[in-house]
Amino acid sequence: MKLLVLNGPNLNMLGIREPELYGSESFAALCRRLSEYAEEHGVEIEQYQSNHEGDLVDKIQAAYGNTDGIVINPAAYTHTSVALLDALKAVSIPAVEVHISDVARREDFRQVSYVRAACEKTICGHGLDGYFEALDYLRARGTNA
Ligand code: DQA
Repeated sequence: MKLLVLNGPNLNMLGIREPELYGSESFAALCRRLSEYAEEHGVEIEQYQSNHEGDLVDKIQAAYGNTDGIVINPAAYTHTSVALLDALKAVSIPAVEVHISDVARREDFRQVSYVRAACEKTICGHGLDGYFEALDYLRARGTNA
């Protein structure tokens, strides 16, 4: 089983950016934990982070036909990107939207999620555990074959 974990803009600053919202664990530490999870559960996990919307679109398109599930934290693009929504719809790969913070309790402009319409599930406010809950969900769901 192959899974893709996609992180959008500024998530490479985890541990530095607004720790009261996003915690003190670094992005590198999250990446390490995701690799350990892959090894422990015998799944392949590709990880990709970009600050650029088009790069994320390219990565979603490249997953077509070779990936069983996508965990996506689109970060700020959650609230703006029709392009990411369309890319997820185009490839029809089961996807889970993850937010580290509880976006439902934050500013009005964070209440819209464009990608949500293309995701089977949304996990918000569980901190970094949300990534692993999303992976558990996709593993339980099985391959996309
Ligand atoms: C976020 C929430 C977004 O509103 C914000 O722009 C982010 C991170 C989260 O993980 O809580 O960059 O996606």
